[in-house]
Amino acid sequence: MFDNVEELVEEIKKASVQTQEELEAYRLRFISNKGVLPALFQKIKDVPGDRKKEFGQAINSVKLLAQERFKTFISDLDGNSGAPDTTSDLTLPAEDPIGSIHPISATKNTIIDIFKRIGFNVEDGPEIENDWHNFTALNFPPDHPAREMQDTFFIEKDPDILLRTHTSNVQIRLMNKQKPPIRSIMPGRVFRNEAISARAHCIFHQVEGLFVDENVSFKDLKATLFHFSKEMFGKETKIRFRPSYFPFTEPSAEIDVSCFICGGKGCNICKYTGWVEIAGAGMVDPNVLSNCDIDPEIYTGFAFGMGIERITMLKYQIKDLRLFTENDIRFLEQFKTIPW
Ligand code: DAH
Repeated sequence: MFDNVEELVEEIKKASVQTQEELEAYRLRFISNKGVLPALFQKIKDVPGDRKKEFGQAINSVKLLAQERFKTFISDLDGNSGAPDTTSDLTLPAEDPIGSIHPISATKNTIIDIFKRIGFNVEDGPEIENDWHNFTALNFPPDHPAREMQDTFFIEKDPDILLRTHTSNVQIRLMNKQKPPIRSIMPGRVFRNEAISARAHCIFHQVEGLFVDENVSFKDLKATLFHFSKEMFGKETKIRFRPSYFPFTEPSAEIDVSCFICGGKGCNICKYTGWVEIAGAGMVDPNVLSNCDIDPEIYTGFAFGMGIERITMLKYQIKDLRLFTENDIRFLEQFKTIPW
């Protein structure tokens, strides 16, 4: 019996472990409850009384030795895996990211950030819409030529189901579900039945803005869009409002910013006018508020809508709208430096 113990001590001393598999084999033999040592402890009872103590101490010291060696093997193996990896050079520049953000998304995110900082939240609405939300509630009279201005893709007739022609539909959905104060922007994709060219597309993106509360005035609209323009295009940017017409706002305006390429002196981007158009806007027509059960005697509001493609084209001097949807890698790769 004592011979057994000595053999085990020799075996443990000689053991060497180079791999996880060898470590596991060692653990099973000398450390685990099913290994050789518990079996030896069982044998204490067979040892004559006067040698029991001696035998017990002997197997205890085998156990301690086995555990000590086990710890050493583990730390040696860990040390191996932590050794300098000669296959990679940590000083090399990081690999190129696989993709890049689409310029439309980049502009949309910038617009959202600017408006979020001044207390606007972001709302979403459906791309497939009915006539009420896209036209009628927005004060487009039936058979009014303004409906024709926005060449509509109809999905069904009577009742009309269509692809929304603008993000203004979300104004109506929002005012139906929430009462003032409302201060939201609504980015999204819109559709018009246009022939595709460098300057027109049947799918594009807009950001709608809506602010409805007591005492909202035209000067709030001006200040908001002035702030936006400076944040988006630079501190020196000026804005101007030109009178315009939209069925859902009264008065209505189109908003130009001073050309941020030439600073207003005139260049090919602004067609030598010094100004570029970025949005339509106005005070929400009282009929629109009434259509959404908001009392126009108590509340007033302003709204605006801007084209994301247009702003992106101006910002990056992109001359052809089709590039946004063609997924030409040579075009998209140029935006790799924009942070995600
Ligand atoms: N919906 C208009 C369009 O697609 C843009 C617009 C103009 C939105 C004025 C507005 C607004 O909210 O007040 O051309």
